[in-house]
Amino acid sequence: MQYRKLGQSGIDASVVAFGAWAIGGWMWGGTEESESIKTIHAAIDCGMGFIDTAPVYGFGTSEKIVGKAIQGKRDKVILATKCGLVWHTDKGNRFFDSDEKQVGHGEAKYTVHRYLGADAIKYEVEESLKRLGTDYIDLYQTHWQDPTTPIEETMEALLDLKKAGKIRAIGVSNATTEEMDRYRAVGPLDSDQEKYSMLDRKLDASNLPYMEKNNMAFLAYSPIAQGLLTGKVGPERKFEDGDQRNNSKRFSVENRKRISAMLDSYKCVAEKHGVTLAQLAIAWTIRQPGCSHALVGARTPQQALENAKAGDIALTNEDVDIINKAVSELVLES
Ligand SMILES: NC(=O)c1ccc[n+]([C@@H]2O[C@H](COP(=O)([O-])OP(=O)(O)OC[C@H]3O[C@@H](n4cnc5c(N)ncnc54)[C@H](OP(=O)(O)O)[C@@H]3O)[C@@H](O)[C@H]2O)c1
Repeated sequence: MQYRKLGQSGIDASVVAFGAWAIGGWMWGGTEESESIKTIHAAIDCGMGFIDTAPVYGFGTSEKIVGKAIQGKRDKVILATKCGLVWHTDKGNRFFDSDEKQVGHGEAKYTVHRYLGADAIKYEVEESLKRLGTDYIDLYQTHWQDPTTPIEETMEALLDLKKAGKIRAIGVSNATTEEMDRYRAVGPLDSDQEKYSMLDRKLDASNLPYMEKNNMAFLAYSPIAQGLLTGKVGPERKFEDGDQRNNSKRFSVENRKRISAMLDSYKCVAEKHGVTLAQLAIAWTIRQPGCSHALVGARTPQQALENAKAGDIALTNEDVDIINKAVSELVLES
């Protein structure tokens, strides 16, 4: 496993990170706690100790499972969580109701707001620390940007948490370069977490070069396109009730066929390196200019071990050219 810095924080984090959304269950057809804990242990044991979670992942469930899994292992973990998607208040900007996004979370229904006021940040950090069973968070990120609170107020609140030793580094997610400029005018910003994969390259000319210019880490989320780039989501694959992939246009049978054909056209690269298509997709992601880390979800110890090994693959320019050509020829129905 390779490690790269989280911006200017001085924190080294594994280039392949464990994404803990799916183990929260919500939008992923449920979760199984003991299997999830085993999965996190497998990740930590093979050097993938960078773990990304969020309060909204299962409305506390993901953070609680991560908290249980890291007891006695805190020193081996770089722990990232988030703030700004709240359901304890209706301040801010209404974002969604939990059942619009596939429920699968008992009977509870939550209305989620984007809110990054100082009052909510102070409340949220304490809730996360309790659920995670720790007294500090390594990387604290604003999950989605709140149009109702000045960024300067948000950043001041985050800097106060840093001064108090509750968080070690500050990051954003789902943010534009203009928004990051405003954060950085108040204090140091170490990372940006965005959707990025072979199928999602909208940020190639904006956020990615911004990272290199401003010495920030770029954390790519959904780097295997929620399974589509692994070769394990063919036209016949069925998902559990409550799994968001049932309702996603990107997962239509026609798109799965087209993606399978694309994977066939570059699987020679995977064979040459003796790796799986999932590993190849992760290795491609962390090789893109400006992209420092890939956050990959896993629900079984086998997936975690497989994904972690991608942190050691060295792709050549020729490998990348073959993959890029195949990707550029892919047209998906929308
Ligand atoms: N900031 C944000 O707004 C935001 C948004 C999305 C995600 N994220 C972060 O990014 C992380 C990763 O994103 P993601 O979970 O959306 O998508 P992803 O990492 O692209 O896909 C994860 C899913 O792919 C399947 N999978 C994982 N490893 C596999 C393997 N080796 N072979 C075959 N299938 C495999 C698993 O589902 P199955 O086994 O069920 O197929 C897993 O749940 C999240 O956990 C979260 O930490 C952040």
